[in-house]
Amino acid sequence: MSDNIIEVRDLVKHFPVRVGVLFKRTVGHVRAVDGVSFDLKRGETLGVVGESGCGKSTLAQVLMRLEPATGGSVKFEGQEILGLKGSALRKLRRDIQIVLQDPYTSLNPRMTVGDIVGEPFEIHPEVAPKGDRRKKVQDLLDVVGLNPEHINRYPHQFSGGQRQRIGIARALALRPKVIVCDEPVSALDVSIQAQVMNLLGDLQNEFGLSYIFIAHDLSVVRHLSDRVAVMYLGKVVEIGDETALYEHPTHPYTQALLSAVPVPDPELRGQRQIIRLEGDVPSPVDPPSGCRFRTRCWKAQEVCAQEEPELMTRVGAHPSACHFAEEKSVVP
Ligand SMILES: Nc1ncnc2c1ncn2[C@@H]1O[C@H](COP(=O)(O)OP(=O)(O)O)[C@@H](O)[C@H]1O
Ligand code: SF4
Ligand SMILES: [Mg+2]
Repeated sequence: MSDNIIEVRDLVKHFPVRVGVLFKRTVGHVRAVDGVSFDLKRGETLGVVGESGCGKSTLAQVLMRLEPATGGSVKFEGQEILGLKGSALRKLRRDIQIVLQDPYTSLNPRMTVGDIVGEPFEIHPEVAPKGDRRKKVQDLLDVVGLNPEHINRYPHQFSGGQRQRIGIARALALRPKVIVCDEPVSALDVSIQAQVMNLLGDLQNEFGLSYIFIAHDLSVVRHLSDRVAVMYLGKVVEIGDETALYEHPTHPYTQALLSAVPVPDPELRGQRQIIRLEGDVPSPVDPPSGCRFRTRCWKAQEVCAQEEPELMTRVGAHPSACHFAEEKSVVP
C-alpha cells in the first residue's frame, strides 16, 4: 500500500456568480480553489494555513465530497473519489470525517449529546447494532474527556471547549481514517485551544488517524503538524516540513504570516522581523495576473505580473511559488 492516504492533483472549485432575478446569468466565477495539489501521508498531520477567504474551507468541503469539484483529482487509498456514487460514496463517508470551527452553531441545540454523537450510527447502522449504541456513545464521550453520564444533556449545558469535544466524539464514531479539522479551535479561548489540540494529538496516536488541519494562524498548527501548506487566493504557495517552513520560509507570504506569530519569550520577541501585510486578500473573482500575491508583495517585479510562478523547489529543500524565493528566518 502507498504511503499516501490522500493524493490531490490540480483540484479546482469555482462557484458561479449569478445575477438577475428571473433569468439568472452567470457573470463570472469565484475561483475559490484554483489548482491545488498535495499528498497526505498515512498517520500524518498536514497543516493548511492562510488568511480568511483563501479557499481553505472550500478545499475541505470538496475533499469531503460535500461540494462537487470543478476539476482535478482526489484519490483516497489509491481510488479516485470525485466521481464516487451510491455504496462506494457511503463507505467513503465513514472513512473521512470533518470537525468544524464553530462549536456553537455546528451542534443541533434540540438534540441531546447522545443523539448528536450517535447520529452517524443511524446513517451507518452496520457500524453499531442498535442495542450497542448507548454504550458506544458513552465510550466516545469518555475518550474525548467528557463525563459519559452527561449523555442526556443538551449542547447549551456545555462550555465551548466541551462542545468541541462533542464534535470530535461525533467525528470519531465511525472510526474514520482521516479527519479534516476546519479551524476547530479558532472560536475557543487560548487556554482551551491547547487542551483541544492535545486531545487531537492523543487521539491521532491512539487511533492512527491522519489529519488535514486548517487554521488561519501559523502558530496554531505548528505543534501538531508534520508538514504545512500555505494557501493564498486558491493556490498553495509554499509547502514543506514543519521545521523547514517555520525556520526557512522562502515565500514572502509565508514570511509575512510568520512575522505575525506571537513569540512567547520576551527576549526573542525583539529579534523578530516585523513584516506588515498591507491591504486585504483581493477578490477571487478577478485575481491578479501572474503571481496572485503581487499586489501585496514588497519584492514584486514586472515578471510577477506576467508569469505565474510555479510551485517548485528553487532554493532550500521545499517548493515555493515565488520567482524570487529566498530563505529568510523571521522568527528567532
Ligand atoms: N458557496 C459559495 N458560493 C460562492 N462563493 C463561495 C462559496 N463558498 C465560499 N465562497 C467564496 O470562496 C472564497 C474562499 O472561501 P473559503 O473557502 O471559505 O475560504 P477560507 O476558509 O480560507 O476563509 C471566498 O471568496 C468565499 O466568499
Ligand atoms: S513571485 Fe513576485 S510578487 Fe509573487 S511572491 Fe514572489 S516576488 Fe512577490
Ligand atoms: Mg474557512
